[in-house]
Amino acid sequence: MNDQREFWNERFGREGYFYGTTPNRYLASHIDALSPNQTILFLGEGEGRNAVYAATCGHTVTALDAAEIGLAKTALLAQNRGFEISLIHTDLEFWTPSQKYDAIMCSFLHLVEPLRSEVFAKAIEHLNTGGVFVGEFFSIHQLPKNTGGPKDTDLLYTAHELSSILKPLPCDILHLAETDTELREGTGHIGLASVVQMKVQKQ
Ligand SMILES: C[S@@+](CC[C@H](N)C(=O)[O-])C[C@H]1O[C@@H](n2cnc3c(N)ncnc32)[C@H](O)[C@@H]1O
Repeated sequence: MNDQREFWNERFGREGYFYGTTPNRYLASHIDALSPNQTILFLGEGEGRNAVYAATCGHTVTALDAAEIGLAKTALLAQNRGFEISLIHTDLEFWTPSQKYDAIMCSFLHLVEPLRSEVFAKAIEHLNTGGVFVGEFFSIHQLPKNTGGPKDTDLLYTAHELSSILKPLPCDILHLAETDTELREGTGHIGLASVVQMKVQKQ
């Protein structure tokens, strides 16, 4: 993962916010639907656009990432808006959660197996009863598109595969679908993209 960390640190070390400072639309719609004053953890949160949005909505927010330059920009964005966010600097491979959350969210978290299954299981385990795990990921149909995302099928998702990961876990699948969506996210994601959208609830 050191390569990934270097890759993302180099990207986030450039001027500006690569995916912009407005939240991902799918995640924002689920943040807007939460009850007030929830605890939310964002996995692979990069430069913090979703986490800062959730903080401005009054939630208690933690952002986790392997790239410390992304986390520093998250802290700066939050500070500039008058909010504070807790930061966890770790590779998800070594993630040892110390609390449970009301919601765990991620956008475009590119994980290979078996780490993907391990992280999903750990996320469900560390949700409070009734808590939600929400994510948007690039699907395998994104491969030929030049609107963002990795050019490596091992890092792309299908709804079918996510369903096999989730079914044995103590959660209900509320939404799991492949769809095309128009992304306008900084300079990193622009145009029509193929994604998998997921919302599950802890039993
Ligand atoms: C495509 S970026 C998305 C950033 C952010 N979620 C967003 O949508 O703006 C992927 C992020 O996941 C992080 N990441 C990837 N693999 C990770 C891992 N194993 N542990 C922790 N962070 C990871 C990267 O450092 C990067 O910040």
